[in-house]
Amino acid sequence: MADNFKRYTVTAALPYANGPVHIGHLAGVYLPADIYVRYLRSQNRDVKFICGSDEHGVPITIRAKKEGITPQQAVDKYHELIKKSFEDFNVSFDIYDRTSSKIHHETASDFFLKLYNDGKFIEQTTQQYYDEKAQQFLADRYIVGTCPKCGNENAYGDQCESCGTSLNATDLINPKSTLSGAVPVMRETKHWYLPLNEYEQWLREWIVEGHKGDWKPNVYGQCKSWIDQGLQPRAVTRDLDWGVPVPVKGAEGKVLYVWFDAPIGYISATKALTPDWEKYWKDSETKLVHFIGKDNIVFHCIIFPAMLKAHGDYILPDNVPANEFLNLEGDKISTSRNWAVWLHEYLQDFPGKGDVLRYMLCANAPETKDNDFTWKDFQARNNNELLAILGNFINRAVVLTQKYYNGAVPARGELTDYDKEVLGVLEGMPLVISTYLERYRFRDALSELMNLARLGNKYLADTEPWKLIKTDEERVKTIMNIALQISASLNILMEPFLPASAQKLSSMLNKPVGKWAEAGSADLLAVGHTIGAPELMFEKIEDAAVEAQVQKLLDTKKANEMANAVAEPAKENITFDEFSKMDIRIGTILAAEKVAKTKKLLKLTIDTGIDQRTVVSGIAEFFNPEEIVGQQVSILVNLAPREIKGIMSQGMILMAENPDGSLAFMQPSKPIMNGGGVR
Ligand code: MF3
Ligand code: ZN
Repeated sequence: MADNFKRYTVTAALPYANGPVHIGHLAGVYLPADIYVRYLRSQNRDVKFICGSDEHGVPITIRAKKEGITPQQAVDKYHELIKKSFEDFNVSFDIYDRTSSKIHHETASDFFLKLYNDGKFIEQTTQQYYDEKAQQFLADRYIVGTCPKCGNENAYGDQCESCGTSLNATDLINPKSTLSGAVPVMRETKHWYLPLNEYEQWLREWIVEGHKGDWKPNVYGQCKSWIDQGLQPRAVTRDLDWGVPVPVKGAEGKVLYVWFDAPIGYISATKALTPDWEKYWKDSETKLVHFIGKDNIVFHCIIFPAMLKAHGDYILPDNVPANEFLNLEGDKISTSRNWAVWLHEYLQDFPGKGDVLRYMLCANAPETKDNDFTWKDFQARNNNELLAILGNFINRAVVLTQKYYNGAVPARGELTDYDKEVLGVLEGMPLVISTYLERYRFRDALSELMNLARLGNKYLADTEPWKLIKTDEERVKTIMNIALQISASLNILMEPFLPASAQKLSSMLNKPVGKWAEAGSADLLAVGHTIGAPELMFEKIEDAAVEAQVQKLLDTKKANEMANAVAEPAKENITFDEFSKMDIRIGTILAAEKVAKTKKLLKLTIDTGIDQRTVVSGIAEFFNPEEIVGQQVSILVNLAPREIKGIMSQGMILMAENPDGSLAFMQPSKPIMNGGGVR
């Protein structure tokens, strides 16, 4: 299923170096890109896999400010963290560069100058939003407001992340500065614009007519609707002090818009990788593929291509396989709300299990619609699929070969119809999987890979070599040979998805992972070849491990509720007389027990100093009876007695309440005698 391209340039969106990367990044962009590239390499195709940190723009300066560090310190910190996470998950970039590098500044600067000198920009002095308190022009994420398209109240000055529309700050309804919260004023400033309207016709031909059917429907649909609505000139410069300086006279204090410089980062990184970079960007026999998330579609399908077209020397993307978003346990993943599974934390909690997450995220990838990640599902995918199907099959094949033949691959004898059928499926599988991969359908590709493992498992379960060994040794040789050939093909076909596990299997089979063209063969392992010792490829994930992760998320949710809660307004005033009618004392809990058939009630015996009395209190969800005996509390002793669940309650324990409903006693800060008054 080869296409006609001579070489491939595959890019993965440059992540902002403003925080660590999480499962949404991996599932949406880096995992599919890595699978695709590993597959191309296995096909011996000439491919460069390009990525790096996006280190400019407002996302960086906002983060730096929040942490009280300089933008440079922020990008240095997160660049390293992100780079390491990708390495740990075996994302096999040929280069992971950064846009603060010298070579990038030069490349982006030259790109701008070429367009400037060729008269491709329009220069315009307009009124822009300005924050008088912060003394700064507001663009991009420095300004939020209501999206005129979809009504999202937190749209940014350059884009609404809810509906994906690209915006100008002046489009926002009710704009507000994120620096000071102030309503901005208008001030005059000069900027350079790329007149996208002039590219509208060309974009229509190239995308709407040219890529119907081969681009994913979600990508194609977004592009078409933007083009249909008509394109406006976009400013490609900003009044900011962090970024690539605008390289023309009269532009002091201005930098390139981050979405102008960042995609050029793909080109700079390729330059940094190889002196041969030009053929990966300027030769029409090169296939350029951008892997991105859906919030990046407009930039990669409209703006960057228009830039490349305006420049004139470059090829255009052949495809832009953008994914939708991954949610986490039913909620949108959010860095600011800490609602995420961070890649570096996952590996601390599940060391050596990078492939399990890769598997889960590919099997569950948001390829055509938003999808949800749950820890229960994660556990099930590991235990019921990786372990029970793939791991189990490999283990049986390797262990039985060791046991019966000391590890030497036995020869096949005469084949039954069943054998022939199985070998037939094996032979066809590489094409089935590669057809899906070439169409960016990674979930389907992975599910076919698992079908091959399933077939292997079923073959052994049906033929039962462990029983047959007592009656028909010759037949067992054939069965084990076939099981081993399936294992060897699985090793090749699984490598793009599960690279670390593929290395393990390769050492078990005592054979380097082969190339795609060899997969499906019935003679991958030669008769007499000695395989290695069995190793565990996957292990069971216990309930406790995933419960701990769910608990971590519940804690996050609580912390967020607390952080966002606002105190209720004060009640109406009362007189001192009214207050002093309440007789509140310090008492000690002498005994506590649950009230039968209730969830919330505890029956308490309190020494009030005046007497010992019974109080029924609705605190059973927050306190164990044993733990509270002996504690001092505040009790309203002159509340009229009242029967609750058949028990006479004499008074009320005072409690303080958190927004999540959790309760605390009102206790004296040093011991007070029982009966001591509270005023
Ligand atoms: N940093 C951007 C984001 O995280 C992606 C930049 S992709 C590039 O959304 F093309 F600009 F590099
Ligand atoms: Zn919107």
